[in-house]
Amino acid sequence: MKKKLNILVIGSGGREHALAWKLASSEECGDIYCMPGSDAISRAARVTGSMAGFREIAAFAAGKDIGMVFVGPEAPLAAGITDTLSSEGVRVFGPCREAARLESSKSFAKEVMDAAGIPTPSWESFDSAPEALDYLRKTDPLKIVIKADGLCGGKGVVLPGSRSEALSAVEGLMRKKTRGEAGSRVIIEERLEGDEVSVLAMVNGNDWSFFPVSRDHKPVYDGDRGPNTGGMGAFAPVFPAEGEFLREVEKRILSPLAGELLERGINYTGILYIGLILTPSGPRVLEFNVRLGDPEAQAVLPLMESDLLVSALGIMEGEAPRLKFREGACVDVVLASGGYPGSYETGFPIYIDKEKIPGDLMLFHSGTRFDDGRYFTAGGRVLNVAALGSTLEEAREKAYRGADAVSFRGKHFRRDIGKGRYKSCRKQ
Ligand code: GLY
Repeated sequence: MKKKLNILVIGSGGREHALAWKLASSEECGDIYCMPGSDAISRAARVTGSMAGFREIAAFAAGKDIGMVFVGPEAPLAAGITDTLSSEGVRVFGPCREAARLESSKSFAKEVMDAAGIPTPSWESFDSAPEALDYLRKTDPLKIVIKADGLCGGKGVVLPGSRSEALSAVEGLMRKKTRGEAGSRVIIEERLEGDEVSVLAMVNGNDWSFFPVSRDHKPVYDGDRGPNTGGMGAFAPVFPAEGEFLREVEKRILSPLAGELLERGINYTGILYIGLILTPSGPRVLEFNVRLGDPEAQAVLPLMESDLLVSALGIMEGEAPRLKFREGACVDVVLASGGYPGSYETGFPIYIDKEKIPGDLMLFHSGTRFDDGRYFTAGGRVLNVAALGSTLEEAREKAYRGADAVSFRGKHFRRDIGKGRYKSCRKQ
């Protein structure tokens, strides 16, 4: 009998809950661990409860006979988890530190895009606060976006509404160090209008396979109003027919990117997330991330027919990825704590009306804890309620039936996740 593979997932949020659930469904999966994990993830995997340094993770992997480490979030990738563990003989699914700079340094990503001729908003980079402030005094604040160069957990992007807002954003990032060293360098880029979509691909150097195109809903209120959040929900697929769109992404973005990286000696392996804005002249890249999106993962993994473990393993053995997805759609609605993304309270009991919840609904936990036989809220984003349907409308109806069947004090969520699917791949 073929030996099953023990797996270690790194992370603790809704994305990692979905990852642990998907990996555990593989016939090839032996014991599955998650570091640090969460109470909810402990239903699918053995959780460690705390995060260790990379050398300790390598020792843990050796002790538990881990055949593959799957890294959920960007921070360990940017800090070189893949490089350290690989040097200790542990197989890791996720790009090396140099490749992870596509996410951990916006100026690096822009430089690579310019060198490869990839369409992206025009940009300037500043290492000096006086020079950045001087530039802002001569620029229309409504036509720019200010970004911290480094990782800020989604909190390093400002779309200023006035010159004083623009100046204080740069003061905050570069002088007051509100985002630490991540804001020592700042990128100021052209602001574009258009719909945004997330294109995820499993990549092995010059080969790749796409996930269905998905969309995250960042602003807190319906109709994309209010402050940005970590994501209030996602759905996939975004386009009724995405073949032509993905061929364009391949030709104009992924193929030149892979070529440019290989020329620089970087063989990208892992998940690549391409954040796109749709403009009249075609898609342009707003950002690259080096992992699955959260909450996009909670919408695309349930659609995946392929075995994620086998596909990831294949990449590490040099195979070209070939992912398959089921027909239909998935909608993931995030239930958040009252006040989120501002200040919020936690510790409220979560009730689920089992009579009303659709049988095949998936609940991926982002911020909960289990105590005395029940779950309590423990974060800003609390639960992901994900549902599959043969149509987007059916998936929406089920997801919202599920969202209504869950209650906790202060619960709020958007009612329009999955609405407004794009008819075409170009902005009209
Ligand atoms: N959904 C956005 C992200 O994962 O960065």
